[in-house]
Amino acid sequence: MAAPGSIVVHPAHSMRGVLRVPGDKSIAHRYALLASVATGRSVIRDFAPGADCQSTLRCLQALGVEISRADDSIIIIGRGAGQFCSPGGALDAGNSGTTARLLAGIIAAHPFPVTITGDESLCRRPMRRVIEPLSRMGARVVANGGRLPMTLTGGGLCGIDHMTEVPSAQVKSAVLLAGLHASGTTRVTESHLTRNHTEVALRQFGAEVAVNGTTVSVTGGQALTRVDATVPGDLSSAAFFCVAVAGLAGSSIRIDGVGLNPTRTGLLAILARAGASVEAEIESESAEEPRGCLVVRHRELRPLVIDPAEVPGVIDELPALAALATHGGEIVVTGASELRVKESDRIAALVAGLRALGAEADELADGFHVCGRRPLAGGTADAVGDHRLAMAFAVAALGARAPSTIVGAGAVDVSYPGFFSVLESLTA
Ligand code: S3P
Repeated sequence: MAAPGSIVVHPAHSMRGVLRVPGDKSIAHRYALLASVATGRSVIRDFAPGADCQSTLRCLQALGVEISRADDSIIIIGRGAGQFCSPGGALDAGNSGTTARLLAGIIAAHPFPVTITGDESLCRRPMRRVIEPLSRMGARVVANGGRLPMTLTGGGLCGIDHMTEVPSAQVKSAVLLAGLHASGTTRVTESHLTRNHTEVALRQFGAEVAVNGTTVSVTGGQALTRVDATVPGDLSSAAFFCVAVAGLAGSSIRIDGVGLNPTRTGLLAILARAGASVEAEIESESAEEPRGCLVVRHRELRPLVIDPAEVPGVIDELPALAALATHGGEIVVTGASELRVKESDRIAALVAGLRALGAEADELADGFHVCGRRPLAGGTADAVGDHRLAMAFAVAALGARAPSTIVGAGAVDVSYPGFFSVLESLTA
C-alpha cells in the first residue's frame, strides 16, 4: 500500500474529454487583493478553490476585510485605500509566494507593523526582491536574512523607478500595488514581459495604468471601484492535461472557459512546435481577461529546445513540458534558474522524480534535459510538497509500463483540488 498522501497512477493508452479547470490562481489573488482596497461590494465568480488563494482570503480577513461566499462566488466588501486594520498576529501566506509578495506591496501603505510568514517552503524563498524596492519607497522592512517571516511598517510611500533583477510578475505587482498608494508615479521595467494580470485587473477596477514596452507605470492616489468579475480557468492547471494529450497517441481534449491571456499562452506555441495540434479561440475579451476554448490533439512528438527568452512566459509550465518529453520526445531548457526558488527546487526535484520513474533526465545549472527514448519503467516519485511536480509526475506516469506512486500527491490542493479524480476520468 502507498504511503499516506501518496497516489498510484496507472499507465494510460489515451486521454479524451471535455472539461473546465478551476479558476486561475494568479488572477484570483489579484481580484481579491484589489477588491479589498477598492470601495464597494465586489462579486468574484469562479474564484480559485486551491489552498493558495484561500491563504490570500484568510490574510485579508485578518486585516479586517469582510469576505463571504454565495454559490460559486465570493463577495468582498472593500475597505478603500490604506484602510486595513492591524491584524492580531502574523499573517500566514501558507505555500503562496503570490500572497506574500503582493500583499507586502499593499501592506507597505499602512503605518503599523504587519508580519507575513508562511510554511516551510515559503520561508525558504527569496523576499529581498520585494524588500529592496518597498524599502526604497519608504517602508521599513525587517526580515530574516531576506526571507520570511518579514515585518513591514509602511505609510508615506514615494513613487520609484524600479528595474526588476529577474523577470517576476510577483515583484512587478508588489511594486505597482505599493505605487498605487504612493505619492507620484511608480514605474517598473522588466527585461522580459511577464504575466500582466495586475495591469489588466487594475484597469478593471478603474485605475489608469500606462504600459510602454516592458515598462508599466501607475500614479499614486487613484481610488479603485468595485467590480463584478469572473475568473477564467487556469491555463497552468489545464497545461497538465494538454501535455498528457500531446504525449499519448489517439488523444484529444477540449477545455472550455480557460484563460487565454497572451502573456500566459507560451505553452500553446511550444506544444504546437512539439508537433501537437492546438486550436485556441478567444470567446470573451472586452476589458477583462481573455478566455475561450482550447482544443489539443496528439500528433507525432518532435524534440524541443526552450530558449531562455521564452522561459518567463512558461515558468509554471516547465515541469509539465519535462513530463511531455518522457513520452518519447526530448527537451532542453536553459535560462530557468528561477525554478530553483519556486515551491521547491524545481530543477533538482523534477529531475530526481523523473529519474525515479525511469526517465533519462539531467540537471543543468539553470535548467534541465529530459530524453524520452523509451517508455518509462514506472516507480515512486516524490513531489516534495510541490503541487506542480505532483501533477507533472502523474503525467509522466501515464506513459509508463507499470503503475507508479506519487509521494506527497496531496500537494495538488494548492492549485487544483480534485486533480487526480479528473485525470482518472479522462484516461483510458
Ligand atoms: C505568479 C508569478 C510567477 C509564477 C507564480 C505566480 C503571479 O512567479 O511562477 O506561480 O501570480 O504573479 P514569479 O513572479 O516569482 O516568477
